[in-house]
Parts: sequence; C-alpha cells; structure tokens
Amino acid sequence: VTDQAFTALAFSGSLRAGSANTALVRLAKRVAPPELDIDIIDWVDELPWMNPDLETDPPAIVQRWWDALRRVDALIVGLPEYNFTPSALAKNAIDWATRPPADRAIAGTVVAFLSAAGRSGGQHAQDSISGVLVLMGAVIVGEPHVRLALPGEQLRPDGTTDDAAIDAAVRAKLDAVVSAIRASRSA
Ligand SMILES: Cc1cc2nc3c(=O)[nH]c(=O)nc-3n(C[C@H](O)[C@H](O)[C@H](O)COP(=O)(O)O)c2cc1C
Repeated sequence: VTDQAFTALAFSGSLRAGSANTALVRLAKRVAPPELDIDIIDWVDELPWMNPDLETDPPAIVQRWWDALRRVDALIVGLPEYNFTPSALAKNAIDWATRPPADRAIAGTVVAFLSAAGRSGGQHAQDSISGVLVLMGAVIVGEPHVRLALPGEQLRPDGTTDDAAIDAAVRAKLDAVVSAIRASRSA
C-alpha cells in the first residue's frame, strides 16, 4: 500500500486577502506527504446560504460541492474562529456538507481543521463543530492539533513560513490525516 494515492479537498473559511487560515491551507499543500494530493478550492463562498428548500432541486454549485466531497478521502479546512465559533463562511459550507440527510456528503470523509486565531488558536471553533461532525459520519482528526495563536508574520499569506514549529505542526497533522484515511479504509 506504499504507492497508494489519497486525495483531499481543502478550503479556507476566510475571505481576507492576508488570511492566516488561507495561508495554513496553502502551507498544507506545500508540505503534503507524497501520498496525499491536496486540491484547494476557492469557491465555497458561491454556495448559497443554507436553505433546505433548495435541497429538492439543488443548485449546480451545491451539487458540485457534494460531488467533490464524495470523490475525496479527506477534507482540510482552514478554520477561522469568529466569536468562539467557525466563521459563517466555513459553517455554511460545512452545513451543506452534512446534507442531504439520507446520504450526507461528508459521511465517511476524514476531516482535519487547521486554525489560526487569537489567544486560544481556534480551539473553541474546532471543538464546537467536531463532535457533531462525528455524529454526521465524518472521521475527525483531532490530535495533533493545529491551533496557532496570533501567528502574525511567522506565516505569510502565500503559505510559506520560516517558523519550523508551524511547518512541523502542519506536517504532523497531514501525517495523521493519512493515517486516519488508511485506518478508515481498512475498517
Ligand atoms: C467577527 C470576528 C470575531 C472574532 N472572534 C474571535 C474569537 O472568538 N476568538 C479568536 O481567537 N479570534 C477571534 N477573531 C480574530 C480572528 O481569529 C483573527 O482575525 C484571524 O486572523 C482571522 O482569520 P484570518 O486571518 O484567516 O482571516 C475574530 C475576528 C473577527 C473578524
């Protein structure tokens, strides 16, 4: 199983040009192990606000999101913390991912959060959504956490960093993602 290729979809929950969470997603793509192919998508802001009425005849963008999730092994989210919870952008994309109830797009997907936030590094945002995603059938990669407190200039918007600890933390997270995919495939 050494030459097995795994795939991950990644998005940032921040639209800010200088976003540290977008930087984390870009860093993940840069340092991903060879067996994990990461596809960064930048169109989750085109998803409509969650409205169950739309589920009877889902808009093309919703179908695109569901199809993309079902094709990959893992979802990596650069998750900002706004008022102790995920940014509305991230939450909306995640809410759509938990639908439709009979065949949730997120079911069976390994999910990993990378956060850069204030003092607690996004812990509240990650914790607030992780438990319920398990109930929705996702496989959450908890530890090792990537919860950067006030990364400032150690993390550049293009996803480069001179901070060895940040680099190592993201690599360790991705190794855990690969392990979780392997474990869920052999289960
Ligand atoms: C509306 C709003 C609420 C915020 N609430 C929190 C919070 O509860 N905890 C925290 O650590 N940081 C909070 N922050 C700070 C963000 O984590 C910080 O601005 C971070 O850099 C945003 O992510 P980004 O760099 O990817 O845009 C908040 C920022 C905004 C705009």
